[in-house]
Formats: sequence, C-alpha cells, structure tokens
Amino acid sequence: MTHTQAWQELKEHHRQISTKHMRDLFSQDPQRFERLSLSFEDLLFDYSKNRITDHTLRLLCALAGQCGLEDKIGRMFAGERINCTEQRPALHVALRNRSSRPIHVDGEDIMPRVHAVLDQMRAFVDKVHSGAWRGFTGEPICDVVNIGIGGSDLGPRMAVQALTPYHKPGIKVHFVSNIDPADLADTLAVLRPETTIFLIASKTFGTQETLANAHGARDWFLQAAGETKHVARHFVALSTNRERVRDFGIDPANMFPFWDWVGGRYSLWSAIGLSIALAAGMDRFEELLAGGHAMDEHFRSAPLDRNLPVVMGLLGIWYVNFFGAATQAIVPYAQHLQRLPAYLQQADMESNGKATTCDGRAVCCDTGPVVWGEPGTNGQHAFFQLLHQGTRLIPVDFLVPMHSHYAPGEHHNILLANCLAQCEALMRGRTDAEARIQMEAQGLDQADISRLAPHRVFPGNRPSNLLMFDKLTPRILGILIALYEHKIYVQGTLWGINSFDQWGVELGKQLAGTILTELQEDGALSEHDASTAGLIRHARRNL
Ligand code: F6P
Repeated sequence: MTHTQAWQELKEHHRQISTKHMRDLFSQDPQRFERLSLSFEDLLFDYSKNRITDHTLRLLCALAGQCGLEDKIGRMFAGERINCTEQRPALHVALRNRSSRPIHVDGEDIMPRVHAVLDQMRAFVDKVHSGAWRGFTGEPICDVVNIGIGGSDLGPRMAVQALTPYHKPGIKVHFVSNIDPADLADTLAVLRPETTIFLIASKTFGTQETLANAHGARDWFLQAAGETKHVARHFVALSTNRERVRDFGIDPANMFPFWDWVGGRYSLWSAIGLSIALAAGMDRFEELLAGGHAMDEHFRSAPLDRNLPVVMGLLGIWYVNFFGAATQAIVPYAQHLQRLPAYLQQADMESNGKATTCDGRAVCCDTGPVVWGEPGTNGQHAFFQLLHQGTRLIPVDFLVPMHSHYAPGEHHNILLANCLAQCEALMRGRTDAEARIQMEAQGLDQADISRLAPHRVFPGNRPSNLLMFDKLTPRILGILIALYEHKIYVQGTLWGINSFDQWGVELGKQLAGTILTELQEDGALSEHDASTAGLIRHARRNL
C-alpha cells in the first residue's frame, strides 16, 4: 500500500487538510451531509463529520483500487484460500448465503451442508421451545448455558443481548466463558440440572478454558442425574471436531457441526449461533442471516465510493495511517448493544492486530487500532472528557436506533438527542469567543472569564461516523455485524495482512501449559526469567 501512487498523493493531501477545520468544511458546503452519507435499507451511514473532502475520498478509493481490493473481495466470495497461513478459505458469507448461488470449496458446493445444519438447528430449537425435548426427569428445558470463549462466546453473547425484545418466554440463555471458577459457579447457582441444557461451543474442542468449564458443568449435572446416559439429553456440542466431541462423551448425534473455513470470530452465523436461535427462535436467527447476506450483496457489488464497508474501512485507514490514530471508539446508543464493543474488539484486533504481511515481510505502516467502547449515554459520564478535550485523536463510531422497542417517549428522545449532540460537539468544538460569550451570559466577571476560558474551549475537529437505523431488529443486527466484518477485511487487505489467522494467541497458551504443571508439582522449574520464576515460587509457597 505504501508504494502506491495514491499513498504518496494522500500523504501530500494530508498535509493540506490537517490544518482545515470541519466547521469550515461544513459552512463552505451546504450539501456536505447529502454527499457524504450513504443509505442501505433503513440504515443511514453519515460520514460527513470526518476530516475529509471529496478529493480525500477519491484518493482513498484510488488507493483501494491500486491495492486490488475489488479482486480481493471477489476472491473471498469465490472461496479462494485467502487465509494464506492456514491455507483455508474464509467463508462466513456462505453461512448466510440466502441466494441460490452455489459456493465451492475443493470442487464441492458447500451450501447443502450449510442448509442441513440450519435444518438440524431448527428441529432442535423447535423441540426445546415446544417442550418436546425433555430433561432426564421428564421436565421441559428452561435454561440454556453456552460454554465457550472468544468467538464461541462473544458473538452469540452480544447477539442474544441485542435481541432481548425477541426472546422466547420460558427460556433463559446464560453464558460461561472465563476459567475463573466464579463464572461457572455463579451461573450454576441459579440453575436446576433437571431443566438445563449445556451447549459446549468450541470450534476446535481443544480450548483449555472451555473444556475445563464443560467438565465442571458435567460433574455438577451428574451429581444430580447420577447416570451418564442422561448426559445425552443435557449436553450438545457446537464444533468442527467430531473425534474430540466423542472423546468428551457427547454423542455425535448431538453435535451441530461447522467447518474449518469458518473463523472463530466469524462464527456466530454457524452452529455457534444456536444460543441465539434458542433465545429468539430460528425464524429470528434466519432474519439475522438475511441481514448479513444483504450486506454481503452490497459489499460485493457496490462501487467502491458507495460501498459502506469500503468507505468505513478507508476512513479507518485515513486516521490510523495518516493521522496516527492508535484507537477506535465504538459507542452504541443502545443498551442492548452493550457487548458490541467487546465483540468488535475480538473481531477487529484478532483479525488485524498483525505486523507481518501475507508474504512474510514486516509491514511498513501501522495496522489495526485498539478497539474499545461502552454504550452511550454511560460513556459520556466516563471517558468522553478525553474524547473532547484530550490530546489524542480518537475516531468514534456512534450507533443509534431511531425507535425503541420499549415505551416511546422522552427516554428514547433523550438518548437520541445526546447521541446527535456528542457527534456535533466533537465536530464543532467551542471557540474561545463562544466560551466567553456563554460565560458573560451566565454573569461571570471578566477575571473569571479569562481564567476559565482556556478550560472551556473545545478544539473540535474530532471525527466520527454515525450509524442510524430504525429499530434494533435481527435483520439490522445482521447488517451491522457484516458491515464491520467486511470493513475489517477491507483494512486487512490494504495492509497486506491475513485477517483470518491468530498466531499471536499461541505463545501465552503454550507457556500457561508449562506453568500450570510447575504450579501443581514440586521440583525444578524450567527455564524462566527471574521475575516469572520468582512468581511461580511465591505462588507455590502460598497455594
Ligand atoms: O485463543 C483465541 C481463539 O483461538 C479464538 O480465535 C477463538 O475464537 C477462541 O480461541 C476459542 O476457540 P474455540 O472455539 O476453538 O474454543
């Protein structure tokens, strides 16, 4: 990317634009909002409050073109092995392919397999909801516990919460992810084994935390149920690994499979989404898939400068690589999107937190930003001070529904007003003259006004995107998730990295295995630095 003509032009353009204030860009151009916003179904993507002009966008699109983005998008949908280090396709788009188009992997159309698992999920969900699926005492199921971590937890957890208004009565879905025993214990404390089903969600079925929690849940269950034959009615597996599922003691008939071409953090659309379907029903789950598919169709066909994930991805590159932004805030003004920032943290940081290009060289520019955030308005009373007056440039994505599922009226209007106000305040800021006029109106004397003015000035010119939609439905949720997934791919493609592997999580796991043995056994320690060795000895003395 850094060797393209567009990159050089963008560097020069950045020098010119970095002194411009968005206030002036708006006042010079009454059509700015109309031109720098895009609609997709009921989603409005306003990107006019960014430090860009039409020329910036043209150059960024040229950059994408010179990096072969359109070809790379085509390669993903065609099932090519774009996950180059693991030699796998990245085909989460197949899981939500609602068209009749086949998708091939190694010459086989994978769509019949995808549909077969959706049918299996529907049959199971219907049985649980109708009460036909009974526990070992003959009682119907009322609690579902998803045991998984990372992509086998964050996506379903986020989506189940997002779809709260659609939850089926009589079924409550819980999540256990952490190996801290408190997580499992707190969850089990409110459950009855007779009426609980456990979904053991693990792509590999080899993740230490998930297996330990799954064994803990099984022991708890068997204390009540006694005989292991009852496990079949209370434990199902969501995995790609049939042998390990069998070794754990789950009948492969109770396994909902998916495939190695589904990345963990892209897996909520697969059998890993069973908890979403159990919470909200299979029809709602399919609406979620349909939303994701609609965004896929847009991504693969819209021209670069009208393409939401492309424009969003390019804006991110503009801030990371030209303004030096190290982080990206995600602020949903929707309580039920509380887990969206955590979900996007894994989606983005595990995908693009890399420093080696696909062909094994060191990247020569920054890559994925630190992604973080909290719902508004809570965030306003926590970290917004830094967004407005801190020394760092932090682009913000705001997300807000126009209507609530709950009582219409003032609450939601206050929420919406605050969201729009924050975008405006970040962009406009407050000048010294405006701060002084305001204080004069408040009756402050001139000495106080001069003393306080520097503190009450807001620089403004702080960029944000606004994603505004009608209501938080399964379909719009699917659209939003797919939008972010594709934005991540756009950025990874331009940075020349592989967004679909995660070698960076290996080393810590490996060392934890060694240290666990050393904590549990006496004897000489293997080779550690003095700090780690000292800490292991300290822990041994105190365990
Ligand atoms: O440790 C990281 C990771 O491999 C993630 O990529 C993945 O989502 C998570 O662990 C869980 O993996 P699994 O679904 O195989 O248990």
